[in-house]
Order: sequence, then C-alpha cells, then structure tokens
Amino acid sequence: MTGAVFLPDAAATEALGRSLAPVLRAGDVVLLSGGLGMGKTSFARGVLSALGLEGEAPSPTFAIVQPYAPPETRLPVLHADLYRIEDAGELEELGLADALYDSALLVEWPEQVPRSYWRDPLCLTFAAAPAGGRCLTWDGSAAWERRWRPT
Ligand SMILES: Nc1ncnc2c1ncn2[C@@H]1O[C@H](COP(=O)(O)OP(=O)(O)OP(=O)(O)O)[C@@H](O)[C@H]1O
Ligand SMILES: [Mg+2]
Repeated sequence: MTGAVFLPDAAATEALGRSLAPVLRAGDVVLLSGGLGMGKTSFARGVLSALGLEGEAPSPTFAIVQPYAPPETRLPVLHADLYRIEDAGELEELGLADALYDSALLVEWPEQVPRSYWRDPLCLTFAAAPAGGRCLTWDGSAAWERRWRPT
C-alpha cells in the first residue's frame, strides 16, 4: 500500500506525526527517510509530543539512539538516527532489535542498513515539494494501512 500527501509547512509535518501516536504500540517500526533537513525529526517530535513528552525532543543525530519510557511517554520509544553508523553490526550494539519487545522504533536514515533488517516497517519518505513544503510518500503492509494512513 502506498500513497502521498503534501505537507505545506513544519507544523503539518508535526501534526501528521501526532496523528500516528494513538495507534503506536510495542514492536512497531517507523522508518523516516529523505534527504538532509527534509523533516524526519519534525515528524518524530510530533509523535513523541502526542505520546506525552513535554518539551521538544532533541535530534538523536549525535546520541544515535534517544530512549523514552513511561511516564514521560505512553509507551517506550527509541528515536534513532543511523546517519553515522557504518554497518548493520553496529545495530546489535545499539539494541534496536531487543528493544522491539517492549518499544516502538522511530528510525531516521534507515537506509544505512538493508531494508530486510526491518520487520513490517511503516516507511515514510520526505522530499522537497517544488513550490515549498514537503511531499511525503508512504509505504506499508495492509496491516499498517488498516491502522493508519497519512491524510
Ligand atoms: N513540511 C515542511 N515544510 C517546510 N519545512 C519543513 C517541513 N517539515 C519540516 N520542515 C523544516 O525543515 C527543517 C529540517 O527539519 P528536520 O530537522 O525535521 O529534518 P531532518 O530530516 O530530521 O534532518 P536531518 O537529515 O538533519 O536529520 C526544519 O527547519 C523544519 O522546521
Ligand atoms: Mg533529523
């Protein structure tokens, strides 16, 4: 299942992230793709804020993995940015696979590891729209589409 939506500004990106939060549960993998500065962190901030996080989530660019847990968020979440990892082996050390037992994953720069690494991901790709704003294309299983689709 695929589709596309137009996000005119950063507020629209965050609002779309907020709309995903109510359906998120442990084991979910949300892959946030797109070039530098396309809105991946903005989307994640929307998700985290609607999960209850107070204040603005930091970009995980340097931490690589930023963990959240109740009571600050409704469920445990790992917000990761794989930009600086060099191979899939490093993922094991980061504990992303183990975290899926009780956490949802929000992953920026997921193309750093093979797509087959991720089980049933919801894939969101942000790109610059010609007249400003962003175009978001999404791709996910039928199960994902029953739970959530961008509008
Ligand atoms: N739909 C949008 N239209 C215009 N600007 C947007 C939109 N969504 C987010 N932005 C802006 O784009 C900039 C970069 O956003 P953000 O940091 O979320 O990108 P990113 O994809 O996480 O970048 P990086 O590749 O560095 O991780 C911010 O200034 C943000 O406000
Ligand atoms: Mg980012």
